[in-house]
Amino acid sequence: MLPDQTAYITCRTATEVAAAIRNMVVRGAPAIGCAAAFGVVLGSSSKKAFDVLAASRPTAVNLFWALDRMKKAANPEAEAIAIFDEDLAANRAMGRHGAALMPKGARILTYCNTGALATSGHGTALGVVRTAFERDKTISVIACETRPYLQGARLTAWECVQEGIPCTLITDNMAGHLMSKGDVDLAIVGADRIAANGDTANKIGTYMVGVLARRHRLPFYVAAPTSTFDPKTADGSAIQIEERPAYEVTGYRGVRWAPEGVAVRNPAFDVTPAELISGIICEKGVVLEPNRERIAAILR
Ligand code: MRU
Repeated sequence: MLPDQTAYITCRTATEVAAAIRNMVVRGAPAIGCAAAFGVVLGSSSKKAFDVLAASRPTAVNLFWALDRMKKAANPEAEAIAIFDEDLAANRAMGRHGAALMPKGARILTYCNTGALATSGHGTALGVVRTAFERDKTISVIACETRPYLQGARLTAWECVQEGIPCTLITDNMAGHLMSKGDVDLAIVGADRIAANGDTANKIGTYMVGVLARRHRLPFYVAAPTSTFDPKTADGSAIQIEERPAYEVTGYRGVRWAPEGVAVRNPAFDVTPAELISGIICEKGVVLEPNRERIAAILR
């Protein structure tokens, strides 16, 4: 409902939590993981609770990582709270590691929403921006609107406005033009799943930003906690990409602009190959020019 309205949805069962995840009430990889952990608690760790939560959305590995942890937990309530608290601590650590990479006065292009609304608080890529802004009030954000669901326009722009971080909203197809004019210093995005070789699934359109950043010799960083790393997936080709409903592409909030009967594709994520990524910022540090060996080393 943001940015027009703020509403809180109370979930009382695992099924309600799963529906909230599927319907994007809770979205963003780390927030999905946290919500799923609390969903298991609401569902008394039953098999049905695990099954319904696991079926909510396929791409963000944080969901399955959290469910795995909850399966092994002796005290599920304490474990869910630990998952939430650890995510917040990881975000703050990423903020510190990442802020050191932000040049003074940097104009930082972001994609999707990776802030407090996508995590337990602070944020991943937007958390880096937040920490950098605490240190240097001259940095600014260029937020891509992020078609079709508009997480950038609706959520990232809202978070920046709330915090007084200078933010300029652009449509996604303006990114290349701004880069070519020298109006962008670097790009930083979040992740939904990072394969063992560093290939990174994130919001649809991230790949395009990665290609453009390379073309314009701009740093392209990914910020994600280790809960987003998936060492069991060898490379990006094995990551399942969620396909979402056609109405997200053909219109918005009841307004339809595409003709009835047209075929639609709506993949919600894409994969940016590791070779386009300058560095992955996680709570343990920064993996520059990520590859299989460097990622395995930081996860050890
Ligand atoms: O479909 P969404 O809104 O859940 O997608 C969110 C993203 O792709 C984010 O960039 C990613 O989860 C990182 S959030 C810290």
